Amino acid sequence: MKYLFGNWKMNQTISLIDEFSKNFKKQKLPKDVKFAIAVPFPYVQYLQKKLRKNCEIGVQNVCFAEKGAYTGEISVNMLNDLGVNFCLVGHSERRQIFKETNEQINKKIQLLLSANITPVLCVGETLKELKANKTEEVLKNQLNQCLLNLQGDTNKIVIAYEPVWAIGTGKTATAKDVQKNIKFIKKHLIKIMGNTGKCIKVLYGGSVKPENAFELLNNETVDGALVGGASLSAETFVNIGKQLSGVN
Ligand code: PGA
Repeated sequence: MKYLFGNWKMNQTISLIDEFSKNFKKQKLPKDVKFAIAVPFPYVQYLQKKLRKNCEIGVQNVCFAEKGAYTGEISVNMLNDLGVNFCLVGHSERRQIFKETNEQINKKIQLLLSANITPVLCVGETLKELKANKTEEVLKNQLNQCLLNLQGDTNKIVIAYEPVWAIGTGKTATAKDVQKNIKFIKKHLIKIMGNTGKCIKVLYGGSVKPENAFELLNNETVDGALVGGASLSAETFVNIGKQLSGVN
């Protein structure tokens, strides 16, 4: 089974969502691909009603604290009340714009696991780190710190390898580098998590679109994709899903 996660970021409106849902339902979905979309908080319930049968609905963030005086934040219990299936954590936009740290990300993952919500942890190097040949070191540090001392069902964690320089830029890593870095992540997961590490799915993200999906994703190393811009249209999103199909 391959995974295809969409990330709508701060996009869409009710009327665009209506159009998306109508078009999504018209498509024939491959049975061996699990579809999921991380949507803005206000639209969770609206989308659950419209798409729940064919697509999991998740969110893009959660607070690192359980409850209390954190104006503007959303707690894991609130996500649980909404019946959210998964939550992105550590997306590079959160790390860079909102200065999220690995320590906060680690707390978020622990809270999500306690609430039985799947954490989708994003990791990846910046262009500067890539040029300095530091990709593996960065990935290792992010994994070590974000996955430190976790309790609970850790095998449900999903990792998205997203080179920061490839997000929303139209640039992608080469298929060879994607596989090399995902193999490195998988090996490191086994090192730090033992057998549990073997169950963890590792996706690729960064400018995935129908034109490059087959080359980047249709192999046994990459377990799926996290897609931003191309997930805003039902046709392109499902088209990417079809190209993931038939591998496992
Ligand atoms: P993109 O975004 O597909 O638009 O590059 C990916 C992401 O931010 O997860």
